[in-house]
Order: sequence, then C-alpha cells, then structure tokens
Amino acid sequence: MCRDWWLHRLLFDIRMGTMKISAVIFDLDGVIVSTDEYHYQAWKQISDQENIYFDRAINERLRGVSRMESLDIILSHSDKVYSESEKYLLAQRKNDIYCELLNKLSANDILPGIINLLISLKARDIKIAIGSSSKNTPFILDQIGLATNFDAIADGNSIKNSMPDSEVFLLAAEFLGVQPEECVVIEDAQAGIDAAKAAGMKAVGIGSAAKCFNADMKLNDISNLDIDHLLEVNEIRS
Ligand code: BG6
Ligand code: MG
Repeated sequence: MCRDWWLHRLLFDIRMGTMKISAVIFDLDGVIVSTDEYHYQAWKQISDQENIYFDRAINERLRGVSRMESLDIILSHSDKVYSESEKYLLAQRKNDIYCELLNKLSANDILPGIINLLISLKARDIKIAIGSSSKNTPFILDQIGLATNFDAIADGNSIKNSMPDSEVFLLAAEFLGVQPEECVVIEDAQAGIDAAKAAGMKAVGIGSAAKCFNADMKLNDISNLDIDHLLEVNEIRS
C-alpha cells in the first residue's frame, strides 16, 4: 500500500513531465538482494586466515566498492605488504568462499517491494537496468531467477572504473539508449550515490544510503514507505 503510494507518485511525476524519467537503474547487492552477510563471512574467513583485524564496521565500508579495492581496505589493517600476485590470490580465495555461499541464494532472497516495483515499471514502459560493481552479477541474477528481467545489465565485468566513478551507470544508460538525466538510480551505498550524481542522474538512497547527504530521495526501504516519511525526504527534483 505504502510502497504503491510511492510508485504512484513516481509515475505521476513522470506523466506530468515534472521528471523526465525513462529508466530506473538498480544497484544489485543491497538493493535487489542482500548479499552483505555472505560478503562479510567470506572476507572474515580470509582476514582470520591472514591474522588481519576485520569487523562489520569495516565490512560496511566495502559497500559498492570493487573486489580489489575492498581487499585494499582490508589489507590496510595489516602490517604485511602484499605483492600484486598475493593480492590476486587472496581476492580469488575470497570469491571462491563467497560463490559457495551464493549457491544458497534463491528468489526468496529478493528484497521486499522489488518484484512489484519491477512489474509496475515494466507495465508502464519505464526501462529497467542493473548497474552493479559486482563481477558475480550474472550468477546472482541467475540464482534469484531475474536473469532475463532487465533491459540492460552493466556490471563489474564491463567497466574499468568502479564506483564512485560514474562509468557503470553511464554504461547502463548507453545500453538502454537513454540520456543520463532521464535515469533514476536506486542505491544502498555512498559510493553508488556519488557515482549516480557524477553521472548526472537522480539518486534514491535506500538502507544505509538513506543517510547520504547528496541523495535526491532517502528511504529506509522500498516496501516501508508511508506518506509522512515521503514528505520528510528531500524529493527528487526535475
Ligand atoms: C558490490 C558490493 O555490489 O560489488 C561490494 O557492494 C563488492 O561489497 C562489489 O565488493 C564487488 O563484488 P564481487 O561480487 O565482484 O566480488
Ligand atoms: Mg549495493
């Protein structure tokens, strides 16, 4: 009901021309599906094996950040200097553990409100895309049964510069054949909000990104909207 209100408002704005939005670009991890715990468990195992301090607060800093940049953040808590080949092997070990955990993912792990939002956007001819730093995007989408539901997918496999660089979202817009200013990005990470703004797009911050100063709209979670909450947020401006 509340979620629908937000959607109706979004679609009303589109119809009225107050926003010329023709596409919604979804981040994957933390927006479509919650993989945080699996990332945490995999990095924790690697950190423990290497005797490096790692906790959930450090894990939060990895949100939206590429695998190798995440590793650099973790290794900044170690005195040991790792060579590039050692770092590559560590990242590979982490990913093996992570992928093993991803085998448990199913459609039940799709976050609340997402399916209805995707269906409603599609029904109104609003294009939908994934814009994610993750190289595991195809595997994750396959696991949750959404591999063929998006009009375009831009991910960690198709970019050189990870968020907060704008590349992944600009690529998604290019794949969709729309201008950046026609796009809204839904993100759960500060790096993702920064990337969306750098791309010239509107940015909706959900979850921990609801604290981002530069998000155009801030929501705790897509399915928990109410009008009061909506009126409190810094609305998307045309
Ligand atoms: C992002 C996650 O979506 O993908 C980050 O928020 C992660 O935590 C990054 O580091 C890269 O993921 P992957 O699956 O390529 O290791
Ligand atoms: Mg994310």
